[in-house]
Amino acid sequence: MTTTTASPVKIELRDIVQRFDANLALDNTSLTINEGEFVSVVGPSGCGKSTLFNILSGILTPTEGHAFIDGQDITGQPGHVGYMLQKDLLLPWKSALENITLGKALHGRVSTQDRQDAADMARRYGLGDFLNHFPHAMSGGMRQRVALMRTLSFARDVMLLDEPFGALDSQTRLEMQEWLLQVWQETGSTILFVTHDVEEAIFLSDRVVVMSPRPGRIQEIINVDIERPRRIRDLTDPRFMAYKARALELIYGNAKAGA
Ligand SMILES: Nc1ncnc2c1ncn2[C@@H]1O[C@H](COP(=O)(O)OP(=O)(O)OP(=O)(O)O)[C@@H](O)[C@H]1O
Ligand SMILES: [Mg+2]
Repeated sequence: MTTTTASPVKIELRDIVQRFDANLALDNTSLTINEGEFVSVVGPSGCGKSTLFNILSGILTPTEGHAFIDGQDITGQPGHVGYMLQKDLLLPWKSALENITLGKALHGRVSTQDRQDAADMARRYGLGDFLNHFPHAMSGGMRQRVALMRTLSFARDVMLLDEPFGALDSQTRLEMQEWLLQVWQETGSTILFVTHDVEEAIFLSDRVVVMSPRPGRIQEIINVDIERPRRIRDLTDPRFMAYKARALELIYGNAKAGA
């Protein structure tokens, strides 16, 4: 591991293997993430990114290997992380506020304090006027914010975000990226983020994990040595371009090798 931070280890995946019948989805995958890190995972479709998140969230028990949070073995145990699924949908018949507190509702009941905390968070992050709106009356960016706040309000310590901005137009996406970085800096969360967009991964992250085609393995981890706060102009910084070229080479290099 080449990170320079002295933060303690927050997440560890150790020797994970995942088979679905004859299909080897993840092969011998180990990864360590420090507290407060922002790490993205990129790789071709079907390489096992969501599977990795399912294992870390405890909803899938791997064929082999273990997952740890704060040194505790949480393999197969849900409830230790906030998880925004790839196809995360808001419940259309619930307001923004009710959607934000849904995690709490599913795990018991929503207290007045929970509702107050959710409302405070929504105000703080620019959704104050929309607390009582239903999803159909919100823009795509607002709906994604609500879904992210739901994840945050469930567990802000560790958040797994699986392509949260995939469906947004590029301008809204940029706004949401800046917003997420603000949330991350203010909460001190450890974030694991899946995206198909290499630029997005580099722009947001301390490190970018590049996976190989199925069966998924970690090919390389790119350390993004660009100071924060990141700015749009960083997208044309020579270091940024070099990271991007490297990631694309790793992802598409194999596919093009025979061309
Ligand atoms: N519950 C399951 N049962 C059987 N096979 C599964 C299951 N979940 C995932 N797979 C298989 O495991 C492999 C990895 O799937 P996964 O969803 O993790 O890929 P991914 O990297 O997230 O892809 P994408 O970028 O398209 O979201 C695929 O071959 C998929 O068909
Ligand atoms: Mg996926």
